[in-house]
Amino acid sequence: MFASIFLIWLCLVFLVLLLKSQRPKNFPPGPPILPILGNILHLSLENPLKDFERLRNTYGNVYSLFLGTRPAVIINGMKAMKEAMVTKGTDFAGRPQDLFVNDATQRKGLILADYGSSWRDHRRFALATLRNFGLGKHSMEERIRTEIQYTVDTLEKSIGNTLNPQVMFHNAASNIICQVLFGTRYEYDDEFIKVIVQCFTENTKITNGPWTVLYDSFPIIHDLPLPFTKVLKNVETCRNLVIGLIKEHKKTRVHGEPRDFVDCYLDELNKRGDDGSSFSEERLIMYALDLHFAGTDTTSNTLLTGFLYLMTYPHIQERCQQEIDEVLEGKDQASFDDRHNMPYMQAVIHEVQRIANTVPLSVPHCTTKDTELMGYSIPRGTLIIPNLTSVLNEEGQWKFPNEFNPENFLNDQGEFVKPETFMPFSAGPRMCLGEGLARMELFLIMVTLLRKFKFIWPEDAGEPDYTPVYGVTLNPKPYRMKIQLRATQ
Ligand code: HEM
Repeated sequence: MFASIFLIWLCLVFLVLLLKSQRPKNFPPGPPILPILGNILHLSLENPLKDFERLRNTYGNVYSLFLGTRPAVIINGMKAMKEAMVTKGTDFAGRPQDLFVNDATQRKGLILADYGSSWRDHRRFALATLRNFGLGKHSMEERIRTEIQYTVDTLEKSIGNTLNPQVMFHNAASNIICQVLFGTRYEYDDEFIKVIVQCFTENTKITNGPWTVLYDSFPIIHDLPLPFTKVLKNVETCRNLVIGLIKEHKKTRVHGEPRDFVDCYLDELNKRGDDGSSFSEERLIMYALDLHFAGTDTTSNTLLTGFLYLMTYPHIQERCQQEIDEVLEGKDQASFDDRHNMPYMQAVIHEVQRIANTVPLSVPHCTTKDTELMGYSIPRGTLIIPNLTSVLNEEGQWKFPNEFNPENFLNDQGEFVKPETFMPFSAGPRMCLGEGLARMELFLIMVTLLRKFKFIWPEDAGEPDYTPVYGVTLNPKPYRMKIQLRATQ
């Protein structure tokens, strides 16, 4: 008797779960959903990019997957991406609030803030402050150039030898954003920079890894001592470092004379007083960490990919150097304006960004209201995964979608052209707010280093492996570069 009641109960639970895991009416299609597991078995938790592509071939550019019981819509290809991110930008501008990354950042930063006035105010503040500190003006260029000099010194010490550039590029990108945020650059062996870069490098890898997918799919495991707890510890370590810096700033700042981003925020706090706004000292900690994180791993991984390709496509490296030599003849240093006279270099940098595919799945979005995409109905609050990879190598949109070829950005006259399919920074209201800074960094760093050095793939390094390591950001496998001073210097 007891056994049959239990069996009936089990069948009912199974039926409820089965019904719960059905796609709503007119929801984007996708593979059959298993109760509790959803479509988790359809994805490689280590690196789902190939699975996303396979599913796109079966279900089209807009399809859905259930991560456990949570429905998610995957957006692929330029047409669907543009409709969601730009045409219906505000409908798709939310951020989910119940993922692992939200817990990790304590819902205080900017990148993962939900669409609304608090996000808008902080985004505006960041854009305005970056502008005031010289984005578009010369002072930001000077900051970048100062840092490049340290990179040049590091490379000079390695002339004739080989060097793994990973830490060097991470430190350079980190220092540029640290100068903006905290008004300080750190020696490459400084504990602050070592700890912060280490924590973030670890966190990006764990965050897109299998344990986090399980965390997001199965809330029951949230409190278990599994590998994702390492991320929380790392965030705490970084928070404490920033709290120390803010304390220091409060002691030394002169009201109304901001030296950096933190000072500007403290001024803003004074200005706002108790106006009930979302600005607070607590918020500043995660906000600064967000900007540091967003500005470090992305830029440095793009540079790492760039130099891997430039070494292994020496004819492209030489053509860049030829153009740089011609345009900069008689000049001490490159300026960002020189890009207008360097169509080939511009094409190479954009092609590096396309092939690097640095943020392959963008940052998760969610719908802010019931909406439609390519004819499908998507309810409010649905998790959206913008598959930027599918745009950056979309067949039919690029001359050479699957090879490293700067011709993708050059027209028949050799002029630089930027197709609208170029979306490494995403598009629409949530588009990367550091695009201007990143583009300036990539140009000045690549041009300055290529002008001075020749980068050679070491003879004993074997065949180059271009397969990236998967994470929130993609990066090349560790490699070494051989450095020579160029004859023209
Ligand atoms: C090559 C370098 C970079 C790439 C490829 C990149 C790419 C991206 C992408 C794909 C997003 C997600 C956009 C979306 O959700 O639709 C993003 C957001 C963001 N990026 Fe970048 N980024 C780069 C550099 C930077 C830098 C240097 C900063 C520093 C200021 C920065 C700050 C941010 C911020 C704050 C957001 C969140 C914006 C929001 O949610 O409103 N990024 N970035």
